[in-house]
Amino acid sequence: VKPVLVQGPPAAGKSTLARALAARTGRRAQDVDATIEARAGASIPALFARLGEAGFRRLEAAVVRECLAATDGPVVALGGGALTDRALRREALDRAVVLSLSVDAETVLERARREQGSRPLLQEADEARVRSLLAGRAEGYLEAHAVIDGGGEPERVAREALEALSRVERERTTVVPLGARTYRVEFGSIETLGARVRALGPSGALGVTDARVREAPGVRAALEGTGLAGTVCFAGRGDAEKDLAGATRVWDAAIEAGIDRRGVLVAVGGGAISDVAGFAAATLLRGVRFAIAPTTVLAMADASVGGKTAVDHPRGKNLIGAFHQPSFVLCDVDTLGTLSMRERRAGLAEVVKIALVADAPLLEQLESHADALGAGALDPLRELLPHAVAAKARIVALDEREEGARACLNFGHTLGHAIEHAAGYALPHGECVALGMRCALGLGVSMGVGDPALLGRVEALLDRLGLPGRAPDGLDRTELERALRRDKKGSGESVRFVFCPEPGRFELRAVSWERAMTEGLRVLASG
Ligand SMILES: NC(=O)c1ccc[n+]([C@@H]2O[C@H](COP(=O)([O-])OP(=O)(O)OC[C@H]3O[C@@H](n4cnc5c(N)ncnc54)[C@H](O)[C@@H]3O)[C@@H](O)[C@H]2O)c1
Ligand SMILES: [Zn+2]
Repeated sequence: VKPVLVQGPPAAGKSTLARALAARTGRRAQDVDATIEARAGASIPALFARLGEAGFRRLEAAVVRECLAATDGPVVALGGGALTDRALRREALDRAVVLSLSVDAETVLERARREQGSRPLLQEADEARVRSLLAGRAEGYLEAHAVIDGGGEPERVAREALEALSRVERERTTVVPLGARTYRVEFGSIETLGARVRALGPSGALGVTDARVREAPGVRAALEGTGLAGTVCFAGRGDAEKDLAGATRVWDAAIEAGIDRRGVLVAVGGGAISDVAGFAAATLLRGVRFAIAPTTVLAMADASVGGKTAVDHPRGKNLIGAFHQPSFVLCDVDTLGTLSMRERRAGLAEVVKIALVADAPLLEQLESHADALGAGALDPLRELLPHAVAAKARIVALDEREEGARACLNFGHTLGHAIEHAAGYALPHGECVALGMRCALGLGVSMGVGDPALLGRVEALLDRLGLPGRAPDGLDRTELERALRRDKKGSGESVRFVFCPEPGRFELRAVSWERAMTEGLRVLASG
């Protein structure tokens, strides 16, 4: 069991809540401030005075890390500024359940006056100071598995927190921590879509889906019960409808339905639907909110997380787009029931990709369920997909706008995209990524940034998952070359490649497109 951390402003009631939660869940309660005081033999204000804030935070961080490593799942009350450090906060979100207690400045002041002296940053509890403290920490407090109103009776606060905690565990909640743009990815029933949309308090909501998705288990009823102002329904031709004409259909319907700045678009479908709906939302009225209920393996593991939205241009895929994070993502694995075997397997390629560059244990899990997954089984996905989502969220949190580390998600995509293009977009994207990953691993071995054993291991896994091992017949070599040359960066003749020297680790290196091409073709021919 993961530890539970309770964060929030001074005097929010964190210790009281931690004790109440511990009592009700049979866990141990711990108070970070009390632990520090006991060990140092001095009060928090005295330590603050002696060490300064930075020195105190170092001491505090060490205790927080101990709590994160605890295997008995304690409920921990944190000091108000314990997770001020971004890296520590992200570590906490990854290893624990973080609950935030939110209280307004008046409540903090009133409670602080009652217990004068024990809180270093509230010594002279003047209002301006409390307000600036709360404002400075507001974004950090939003980065939590759940935010609970701490203003009420302790009994009610504890009940709400308990409900939130069991929902986080049941729905495998992943936080995508992006300050004010923070959102959660949850695994739950599509039946709850309406309630989640209403919880955003929108002035109106418009659905976006397609005719094939609408026949997936539970989708039609969910859309009808969501109180939408209407639903834009595409034909279900995937990328063929992900263009400006598609975005225009969404804009038209939203404007027609009177969606205003407080409205929300609700995308139910695969990556093509969430990309077009997200792009339409990013641009409508200079940006309205959107939510996603992904219905393909690829969309759950990859496309729904991270806020990249785009439509295709006649000259290339995803050329017109925007970064626009969703307000929530609701994954219902049961909706995958009508997805074709081929699409299920194709989506697994992205799960393999995430495992390779960012989550070594996930690679082992994939291997242990490979045969069932290759046969299209959904059950293993209930366990695997939340891990893939968490790994992607970690990467996105580090690099929201793909200025650095996020490039690792392009593993297998340089040659993958070229193959996709050369095959005239007739193959599912995931199949091309599978081929691209084989090439990238082969190229890595030939360049000394790879491991032949890993190449063999991944090839065996992809085979068991039913993903292709060799290029489709009649792949147009000239087109492959053209697509690869288009991908080259800068004025040189090289392509930036992502390599995976060992599971869970990646390296970026420039490779001449000729070498990539030769090696790629060699791997594709031998598969
Ligand atoms: N934004 C991102 O970060 C990101 C990441 C990866 C991929 N993408 C984009 O995602 C798109 C591919 O997404 P995809 O693989 O989900 O395919 P898709 O959205 O094109 O859907 C594939 C087909 O499956 C059908 N379908 C979807 N869900 C179904 C269900 N539950 N039952 C029956 N049929 C169903 C659709 O109607 C469609 O015909 C591409 O456009 C790609 O560029 C975006
Ligand atoms: Zn991809």
